[in-house]
Amino acid sequence: CGIVGYVGHRQALDVVVDGLRRLEYRGYDSAGVAVLTGPGSLAVERKAGRLANLENRLDEVGRGGFAGTAGMGHTRWATHGPPVDRNAHPHRDATQRVAVVHNGIIENFAALRAELEADGVELTSDTDTETVAHLVGRAYAEGPAKGDLPACLRAVCQRLSGAFTLVVTHVDEPDTIVAARRSSPLVVGVGEGETFVASDVAAFIEYTRDAVELGQDQVVTISRDGYHVTDLAGAQAPTRPFHVDWDLSAAEKGGHEYFMLKEIEEQPAALADTLRGHFVDGRIILDEQRMTDQDLRDVDKVFVVACGSAYHSGLVAKYAIEHWTRLPVEVELASEFRYRDPVLDRATLVVAVSQSGETADTLEAVRHARDQKARVLAVCNTNGAQIPRESDAVLYTHAGPEIGVASTKAFLAQVAANLMVGLALAQARGTKYPDEVAREFRELEAMPEAVAKVLGTVERVRELGRSLADSKAVLFLGRHVGYPVALEGALKLKELAYMHAEGFAAGELKHGPIALIEEGLPVVIVMPSPKGRAVLHAKMVSNISEIQARGARTIVLAEEGDETVAPFADELIEIPAVPTLLQPLVATVPLQVLSAEIARARGYDVDKPRNLAKSVTVE
Ligand code: G6P
Repeated sequence: CGIVGYVGHRQALDVVVDGLRRLEYRGYDSAGVAVLTGPGSLAVERKAGRLANLENRLDEVGRGGFAGTAGMGHTRWATHGPPVDRNAHPHRDATQRVAVVHNGIIENFAALRAELEADGVELTSDTDTETVAHLVGRAYAEGPAKGDLPACLRAVCQRLSGAFTLVVTHVDEPDTIVAARRSSPLVVGVGEGETFVASDVAAFIEYTRDAVELGQDQVVTISRDGYHVTDLAGAQAPTRPFHVDWDLSAAEKGGHEYFMLKEIEEQPAALADTLRGHFVDGRIILDEQRMTDQDLRDVDKVFVVACGSAYHSGLVAKYAIEHWTRLPVEVELASEFRYRDPVLDRATLVVAVSQSGETADTLEAVRHARDQKARVLAVCNTNGAQIPRESDAVLYTHAGPEIGVASTKAFLAQVAANLMVGLALAQARGTKYPDEVAREFRELEAMPEAVAKVLGTVERVRELGRSLADSKAVLFLGRHVGYPVALEGALKLKELAYMHAEGFAAGELKHGPIALIEEGLPVVIVMPSPKGRAVLHAKMVSNISEIQARGARTIVLAEEGDETVAPFADELIEIPAVPTLLQPLVATVPLQVLSAEIARARGYDVDKPRNLAKSVTVE
């Protein structure tokens, strides 16, 4: 979910709605706003569906009723209760004097709800959030924290378990907004005579680039004049101010129909920015290293844990890290990792890959790994997010803000960063000579140009996409590093076009998937290089002829100049010749374009696929 709060000199409604628009990637099941419209009065509106529904509703009821300079808003990804109006945030207490928005899950909410109901409180929604509104309302009315909103929120937070960001207002405190953070993200934006809180700096980047990151279990009170942060006991707490190094244009579409299309175009820059500054004086360097070089040398096993596309970036890395370092690498879905008791100790390096740095499954995997004394290295696109904060070392991807829910530029940047992790390990362990590390890095540095070349040739892929719009299903096949590319290609198609899509290791074809082949079924095949991987190439050609013989329509991604495969390709998509381990960086790009185009042809919003959200802060 996305959260924004504001106190300042502007009309809060405008600031909050604009902020929500930039946070909509975090969830778009429903949206709502609350504005303090004067002492004792609070205007609230909320609506199921996209933000546009809320805006229409605001126009209907008249925005005049929302005049005020303090307010907050929420855009929801439903967890408790279906996405209907009554479950949309903000939630209020029984007296309608308190409003609360929330991101995360309150795990003990059933007990709290039962307690409130036993006391005669009538709850009007299915959410866990509403319980907080009632608890804060009661604490404000009576008891030790009476009349002190920050103290009320602190007291209530101490009773909550789970992950949460909460933003709270009370009609008796029309010039303050109070917020709390546990695990879910929350940043403060510090402007001139105005202060913001939000899940992401994108919500206030238009007004200020001065931000403050809150820590775990901190409560912040914002007013026109600034902010005050305490821990849950009420003691003043340390915070980390930072300056955002990108501006509003990075978070806007800039003439593109969709963010995703812009982000696909930005991939050469995302790669170049991610590599920049990481090879200095002949050595690969990480961004933050709170572990010694000896720790890196002592590593005897690597796990990569991640979700979604980030997981696929880890699958690519496995091939490179094992090859370069001779260390065993296991790649695991973060949601599975900690529940199966993986073998971890001080010599295990867990690489946690996450664009957002806040994915709950990945964060919990990190915590589990650290509990077991393993070292954790985060690969993350969001400065100061929870996962890098809790890790022993960090390598930031510099893809810039990614708004499209389906990952594109962040995925490519993750692949590049993971490869640098492999090189850093090879360097520390001495499994590669310095000149070999330097050569690999130079090859990586050539990739932005190779990706730019691919982008120059995707018009045909778009046409192909349009011709596939009515397909029922598409299969994707690959071998070696082409296998994760096939998985990523299939994931993109599912996410964006709601089309049944599966990725397979091509060698597995004959062990089951070939039964799916029928006349006209599109099958996308990622070919290895005929020179670099001649043996695999030959096997893939056999696989293609097997499926072609059974009627499949073959769509072949092959290195330019690959003449052997051409006769087997009903459609041929050429990609530049690059070193094998780097091929995913070029091969993924046409598949992103293909899925986006199929989705557009089917009339779907490629930035906001149904049921999904970009940052999944619940397990
Ligand atoms: C969500 C997004 C995916 C993303 C995954 C992991 O499911 O829809 O695009 O790959 O989360 O996100 P992360 O921020 O941890 O990379």
